[in-house]
Amino acid sequence: MALINKAIFPVAGLGTRFLPATKAQPKEMLPVVDKPLIQYAVEEAYAAGIRQMIFVNGRNKRAIPDHFDTAFELETELEAAGKKELLALVHSIKPDDMECIYIRQPKALGLGHAVLCAQCVVVNEPFAVLLADDLMVGKPPVLKQMVDQFSEWQASILAVQEVPAEHTKRYGIVAGSAISDRLMDLTHMVEKPAPEDAPSRLGVAGRYILTPGVFREIATQPRGVGGEIQLTDGIAALMRREKVFAFRYDGKRYDCGSKEGFLQANVELALAHPELGASFREYLKALEI
Ligand code: G1P
Repeated sequence: MALINKAIFPVAGLGTRFLPATKAQPKEMLPVVDKPLIQYAVEEAYAAGIRQMIFVNGRNKRAIPDHFDTAFELETELEAAGKKELLALVHSIKPDDMECIYIRQPKALGLGHAVLCAQCVVVNEPFAVLLADDLMVGKPPVLKQMVDQFSEWQASILAVQEVPAEHTKRYGIVAGSAISDRLMDLTHMVEKPAPEDAPSRLGVAGRYILTPGVFREIATQPRGVGGEIQLTDGIAALMRREKVFAFRYDGKRYDCGSKEGFLQANVELALAHPELGASFREYLKALEI
């Protein structure tokens, strides 16, 4: 059995930053080139050895369970038409050894609350949390890098990257003492501080490996920034009882919760796409911008 077998995908957010595109569809279903954001995150978890995917969803999110379900009519038609490659592509969205579990977050009370909603499924195991609007590209995949670190340290690990001082208000910001080039033993974590209050410029990207002790900490936190139950506050409390590490991952993060990051991901992943890349590069060149 893998070291980490469960991943939580909090997908109950309203996606207001992407209106009107997200009026009737979840932001996690927005496609980057030809795949929805949530599928990139699920594939990353699968590549890290995780087989139980736990989606914490809300109203208007039916498209997500549908995406990972059998599409009976589509598959029958593809089969009848002999379109084997497309059929294999559709099947590959949910490999047979992958299990999808859906939990409803009844109220949008924050990321910490969303994670807490999955406690009944995770119970007493270490687990991963992936925020699908952070699209991560890395080799090996970023979560796999983190699982490898976990196997060495057996403690919570947060993916971090350096962020511009003026952006600290967008992230959980951490501080601690360096253990190596990539690893830091954390003493502080603050949610979305102003630049003058930020303990560093290391911002948390949307990938976490957490020990189950965090559930108890989240459950006892008062409402934090924005009146929400914050995952950051739960992790900051966990730090007083257990070691928590920050890990500078090797890879690139696209902030697909912002329009600019989403467009950058589309352009860069289109350029890297095996079928589209070459002609798309020609197209961009011809634009002469
Ligand atoms: C969440 C977390 C924040 C983290 C960020 C990464 O914020 O609360 O600590 O740095 O994700 O994307 P959100 O972007 O959901 O406001």
